[in-house]
Amino acid sequence: MSSFESHFGRSATIEITSPGRINLIGEHIDYLGGKVMPIAIGKHLTIFAGRLTERVVEIFPEGMGLGSAVRIDLDHLAKRSNPAELWMNYVIGVLAVYEASGIELPGFCATIDSTLPTGAGLSSSAALETGIALAIEAFSGIEQDVVDRALLCQRAEHEFAGVPCGIMDQLAVGAGREGHALLLDCSDLSIRHVPMPEDLALVTADTGVKHALGDGEYRKRREDCNEILKRFEMASFHELSLEYLQASAGLLDERLLRRARHAVTEMERVDLFAAALEASDHEALGQLMKGSHESLRVDYEVSCPELDFLVDAAYALPEDSGVVGSRMTGGGFGGSTVTLVERGKADDLIASLEKSYEEKFGRSLNCFITSAVEGAKTSLI
Ligand code: GLA
Repeated sequence: MSSFESHFGRSATIEITSPGRINLIGEHIDYLGGKVMPIAIGKHLTIFAGRLTERVVEIFPEGMGLGSAVRIDLDHLAKRSNPAELWMNYVIGVLAVYEASGIELPGFCATIDSTLPTGAGLSSSAALETGIALAIEAFSGIEQDVVDRALLCQRAEHEFAGVPCGIMDQLAVGAGREGHALLLDCSDLSIRHVPMPEDLALVTADTGVKHALGDGEYRKRREDCNEILKRFEMASFHELSLEYLQASAGLLDERLLRRARHAVTEMERVDLFAAALEASDHEALGQLMKGSHESLRVDYEVSCPELDFLVDAAYALPEDSGVVGSRMTGGGFGGSTVTLVERGKADDLIASLEKSYEEKFGRSLNCFITSAVEGAKTSLI
């Protein structure tokens, strides 16, 4: 008997798969209207759900390690503040923004299983939001376009989880395509799918350092960027060039100068990376990933010693290790690195990273090989 059946005493009618994401390049520039290059990954949430006639949503988040069943009254969608219940704000937030958008909320019960680690910089929050959004859509019969759904989920995260995130994660989770990276232009939300080279594998290494973007540092980076635009009297970072920044450096203090330099140089790196990916130019891919990580570490200050160690360890491997490039991925302050490596050499890379990480930090590293998969989807059972 499935866990849904044993818990709810009936069969589920839909199954939703909602993947996590990694970002290849374009970090901390989605909220500045830059381009980013995420992919949806094979680690995902699986939600089994069935319609309820009562105005409640019952969730058994068994596989997410989040404890026992919860019951959400659709007539009282209040934000939770108890630390053990904070995860529920992603669910309650999506329910509330869908209701505010004019959709009559359906009651449903659901189990959630997961192969996606939480707090690992792999967008488990966006996967949860998108999964709940798909359940609401399936049971209300009102389907949203992938961009509108992402915007609703982002709004839920802003208003209920208190994280002023950009749009990258929700769009990557929703619009992923098998075998492709997304070149996502956050200024107009257009998406181009760029094929991943077949000779390369992606290795994700989760440091186990839990990031918490709600703790204020993420918001501070956004505030710094707003301040930079204010000082330069500009509407967007697209108006800012490195030359202008150097010439007008006197208008910014040292910290803001570094923040601005990250934004401008990272925006440039994304287009170059997309071209290098299409040309299978390994040398350029490696240099661009290295530059991105350095910029995040020194100028944007969102890395941490564990991430830096793993990136340095990957680049320090001999040429025949097949490593193409490596960098932190996601919001930072912990979380994961992503490394591009020649297919067939990924297992050796993992063994080497795990060994050196354990020697250095005395704890294990959670590595896995990943590839680009389809975005979140619903199947009828
Ligand atoms: C988090 C946010 C995204 C993005 C990344 C950094 O994952 O949710 O919107 O800003 O950090 O690139």
